[in-house]
Amino acid sequence: MTAVDDAVIVVDFGAQYSRLIARRVREAHVFSEIVPATITASEMAERRPKGIILSGGPKSVYETPAPSLDPAVYDLGIPILGICYGAQLVAKQLGGTVARTGKGEYGRTNVSLVGASPLFADWPAESQVWMSHGDAMTEAPPGFDVLAKSEGSPVAAFGDDHRRIYGVQFHPEVVHTARGSEFLARFAHEVCGTPAAWTHVSIIESAVAAIRAQVGSDRVLCALSGGVDSAVAAALVHKAIGDQLTCVFVDTGLMRAGEAEQVEDTFRRQFHIDLVHVKAADRFFEALADVTDPEVKRKRIGELFIRIFEEVAAELGAGDAGPRFLVQGTLYPDVIESGNAEAANIKSHHNVGGLPEDLAFELVEPLRLLFKDEVRAIGEELGLPAEIVWRHPFPGPGLAVRITGEVTRERVEIVRAADTIVVDEIRKAGLYSELWQSFAVLPATRTVGVMGDGRTYAYPIVIRAVTSDDAMTADWARLPYDLLERIASRIIGEVEGVNRVALDITSKPPGTIEWE
Ligand code: XMP
Repeated sequence: MTAVDDAVIVVDFGAQYSRLIARRVREAHVFSEIVPATITASEMAERRPKGIILSGGPKSVYETPAPSLDPAVYDLGIPILGICYGAQLVAKQLGGTVARTGKGEYGRTNVSLVGASPLFADWPAESQVWMSHGDAMTEAPPGFDVLAKSEGSPVAAFGDDHRRIYGVQFHPEVVHTARGSEFLARFAHEVCGTPAAWTHVSIIESAVAAIRAQVGSDRVLCALSGGVDSAVAAALVHKAIGDQLTCVFVDTGLMRAGEAEQVEDTFRRQFHIDLVHVKAADRFFEALADVTDPEVKRKRIGELFIRIFEEVAAELGAGDAGPRFLVQGTLYPDVIESGNAEAANIKSHHNVGGLPEDLAFELVEPLRLLFKDEVRAIGEELGLPAEIVWRHPFPGPGLAVRITGEVTRERVEIVRAADTIVVDEIRKAGLYSELWQSFAVLPATRTVGVMGDGRTYAYPIVIRAVTSDDAMTADWARLPYDLLERIASRIIGEVEGVNRVALDITSKPPGTIEWE
């Protein structure tokens, strides 16, 4: 048995917060996965989870069509916690009443406990929670007790300790619910009986075992990008299979400043990993010549990456003697984003969706169950330098997605030099670790300026700095004016070809973090 076998599964009814629920459960050291609402009772039974959480969702249970749950799930004997829409669904499916009371509750709300249950054992009589609902539950299903109420919710929580099925109208996963995290931990540990086994050490142990089982004695290639995900994936695979691993660093010419040296330093000199450094900038610029469409850029880069790996693999020995596996630093959010049929295809993440169909490798994806904060924590545990572990995320296609329009060597040099200044000043201001990402963007436009006595016609640079938890949503960072001024004047003074600096003040949504 590993921690993955003691899972609490989150059934996603389209909530903004499903991921947050899974993360909170994992913070309680219990493995949690997200599955679509279409899961059947037999599929659920096959996964043998220790508990099930039904997420909130944007719909009303009375809309048609509204996502529902296979009612046979209630008979599996697995503990269930419904949250918001999930709770209303339990109420409706098991014979309670959900009504349009006209008294929705949004934001901070007080609830009073009215019944006793192990789930609320450590709650005070009154507590502040966060709500967001239009319909309200007015009657608990037969056999269930009302456990809490609020002004707009006659049934703010209900449960049956015998069947271990519960529903709460509030959102325990958001920070504005006092004791919310403890509440989810209590559900996982006390109600579902899961041990606190999902720890950094156990994640590493089970990943190592899974990698060994998957690759046996075959050779494995790992593409390093300089980013934290591929670095942690490589360190993990190296821990599992030692010198069966060869790392490949393809210098696409689209990297951040100093990235190639840092990769050499860490992996060759510190970890003694077999590292092939391919200098392929010319080939990438050739493949990108005249390309302006962002999706075409991604596809060209992704394909060339894979071709280069295949060439390296062929040089390392053909057929059975050569590497059979390729490591990818795919994370859990990428898996959910690509795998969810309901989510719009916002862009093809080349490390998931855009792989060419004739790929000659089998994939090893040791991080596919992990959120970014978990990846960083295990990176530290594996001894990777803080500089790599805490570096802001960087997209696989590199600086190409930070340049709109054609990607040329000259334009990459401009955006790289500006990027170095942005990051340098943000570090000096002590703000680097507070931001999810900060970088420079080069748009495909030029504007008129005046420098010295002359008129200029040059590019603007856009400063993009965001705060975020997991890149699914993000807010633009309120950087201090004096910092922005220092960045702007250094960029204009030091980067040739730039005569103007602008600040992106768009959150995600509606913007994305990268500009493409
Ligand atoms: P967007 O621009 O979609 O980006 O808001 C979300 C996060 O994903 C990163 N990103 C990528 N990471 N391969 C990656 O490994 C990619 O192709 C890719 N595209 C975007 C981006 O930097 C941000 O953190």
